[in-house]
Amino acid sequence: MSSPAILAGKRLLLGVSGSVAAYKAVDLASKLTQGGAEVSVILSESAQRFVTALAFQAVTGRAVHTDMWELGSDGRGHIAHIELGENADLCLIAPGSAQTIARLAAGFADNLLSLTALSLRCPLLIAPAMDGGMYEHPATQANLATLRARGVQIIAPAMGRMASGLRGQGRLPETAALVGEIRRALGRQSGALRGRRLLVSAGGTREALDPVRYLGNRSSGRQGYAIAQAALDAGAEVTLISTVEGRDAPVGAGVIRVETAAEMRAETLTHLAGVDALIMAAAVADFRPAAAASQKIKRGTLETLALPLERAADALAAVAERREQGSGPAVVVGFAAESEDLRRHAAEKLVAKRLDLLLANDITEADAGFAVETNRITLFAKDGTVEEWPLLHKEAVAQRLMAWIATLLAAGDSTAEE
Ligand code: CTP
Repeated sequence: MSSPAILAGKRLLLGVSGSVAAYKAVDLASKLTQGGAEVSVILSESAQRFVTALAFQAVTGRAVHTDMWELGSDGRGHIAHIELGENADLCLIAPGSAQTIARLAAGFADNLLSLTALSLRCPLLIAPAMDGGMYEHPATQANLATLRARGVQIIAPAMGRMASGLRGQGRLPETAALVGEIRRALGRQSGALRGRRLLVSAGGTREALDPVRYLGNRSSGRQGYAIAQAALDAGAEVTLISTVEGRDAPVGAGVIRVETAAEMRAETLTHLAGVDALIMAAAVADFRPAAAASQKIKRGTLETLALPLERAADALAAVAERREQGSGPAVVVGFAAESEDLRRHAAEKLVAKRLDLLLANDITEADAGFAVETNRITLFAKDGTVEEWPLLHKEAVAQRLMAWIATLLAAGDSTAEE
């Protein structure tokens, strides 16, 4: 997992209650700390039966809290729970045991964790983890419903093997999923794209030649996925139209799977309603076989094989038409991978595709573009601005792009108000 900028400097409160999954919370505390967050951990009495305060102290480098009578460190004579609750940017209880969930739903203040939950001034997330039967029990479900109604975000437990050996829904989600939920909640709290909807395309399209083979390209989808994650970090609602297999989508993104350019165009248009910004990071085929063979093409005695190709559907061209008719997203961003004369081709594409921003890169450079972690972008804006960005990690490219989109959307809002 790379270090997400959104976690840097954030004060996170991690409440750990008594479930066998408590050991996984040590990994979570470690990953959050590695991401630059200040992680304060509260352990319930039962949690201490499963894991030690020392383990959390070692991975967070901070004192761990267990005692509701502990004095705070702010010199104001406050006891710790007030200070912990007041100072946090976000609180996650993971694992949340049935007992802790019941305590919180009833508003009890009989241990440091429940006491602190009553002092919180920040969003509270709870990841329940318990045996499947306990999770499904009406008492637990009613308690969760009560907490939800009060604005607590409940992270659904995962399905799978339980400590009891039975299968059920009650497993603590993996660390990456919990980190993703935290990022999303932090973004929604203070991100520059709060309340915005973004549609992002990612990956390379595949056009069938026959039932076995396809015409494709080298796009890995990394840049598109990084954009979707950066948009979530900035608080946006994100839909990702993706051709990519085997890569976990960012937590919180709605994912639409496509394969061909025609599907990419159709899904883009279907999901355009209410979208503030469209980012077409996908490498979409320009040509496809005029007719895919229904049976596998046999080698036979052929020495050469000519395949007639026809123009593939162009998603951005369809979006441009909609914008001409006065609908469509306020901001449309395209990508261009060029192998020669980048500035001229990019400037032409910006106009031809009626884009607000075009991010171009030279694919002849080994450290930029397809299948590598980094990209060297030249940004072209509709107002004539040209920015040469240094070699950046694709996540950093995505963050810079989000800053541009936030500025363009804000400028659009103020023009609309005039
Ligand atoms: N694009 C698209 N549909 C296509 C081809 C491209 O929506 N059938 C989008 C890409 O996602 C990208 C932008 O258009 O954001 C530019 O893609 P590119 O292939 O560079 O542009 P083309 O117009 O195909 O120009 P050329 O291939 O001739 O350089």
